[in-house]
Amino acid sequence: MNLTNNTKVAVQDLHLYYGDNHALHGINMDIYANQITALIGPSGCGKSTFLRCLNRMNDLIKSVRIEGQVIIDQKNIYDKDVDEVAVRKRIGMVFQQPNPFPKSIYDNVAYAPLKHGIVKKGASCDELVEKSLIQAGVWNEVKDKLSEPGTSLSGGQQQRLCIARTIAVEPDVILMDEPTSALDPISTEKIEALMLELKKEYTIIIVTHNMQQAGRVADMTAFFHLGDLIEYDKTETIFINPTKQKTEDYITGRYG
Ligand SMILES: Nc1ncnc2c1ncn2[C@@H]1O[C@H](COP(=O)(O)OP(=O)(O)OP(=O)(O)O)[C@@H](O)[C@H]1O
Ligand SMILES: [Mg+2]
Repeated sequence: MNLTNNTKVAVQDLHLYYGDNHALHGINMDIYANQITALIGPSGCGKSTFLRCLNRMNDLIKSVRIEGQVIIDQKNIYDKDVDEVAVRKRIGMVFQQPNPFPKSIYDNVAYAPLKHGIVKKGASCDELVEKSLIQAGVWNEVKDKLSEPGTSLSGGQQQRLCIARTIAVEPDVILMDEPTSALDPISTEKIEALMLELKKEYTIIIVTHNMQQAGRVADMTAFFHLGDLIEYDKTETIFINPTKQKTEDYITGRYG
């Protein structure tokens, strides 16, 4: 497969400053459709900052200044005429700590589709909630208690509920920032299996500190260090035959 014809997100010369702190130093990266792309690197290297640039979440931080382009489906999401709320609907995000709304399981999933007018209350909404929970692999565990609070579920179930909530608005891209680091191994395995299922329909970008996880799920892996993208390639290349010494030092555990 020629991946270069399949670019979903093209990042071009992206710089980000938190006040005087130059946190991303001109990142260039093509992210491919229906692939899982892992972002790895030592703490503070800019993985979360980079991820948040892809759905304009950094716009919410006052001190932030961004230069460069993030082109998703041929359109720079930082163009003046782009509505950032619409961007965040198309580019969904799952966080490290499962963060269901203080609402019922049903409402957690139904809230955004109702708000965005994707469905109206009633049968079509019920269907979308069911479909999203099935796709997120949590339906069987919650189908008999949809009116109970989302927060009453286990951590792993809550995370899958958050994934259901994300896919309910049918995004193009799903961003995940260490989505399993707060979870036990069995929940982690479920989320990883789910990611492999979801990539058929979505483009997934995941930050992970767990290199085994990157090895298990990611097609492509990007290694960041101190605000630079050091190396980006097929996952097996990054782990077995990296080009850069810094990458090799990191993956062999010499620092990080
Ligand atoms: N909200 C913020 N305000 C100011 N500086 C920030 C903010 N978030 C991150 N930074 C700074 O930007 C740099 C990159 O941080 P970032 O959180 O992106 O790293 P990371 O690779 O995700 O690290 P970790 O693996 O620890 O999550 C760091 O120097 C950090 O201090
Ligand atoms: Mg982070």
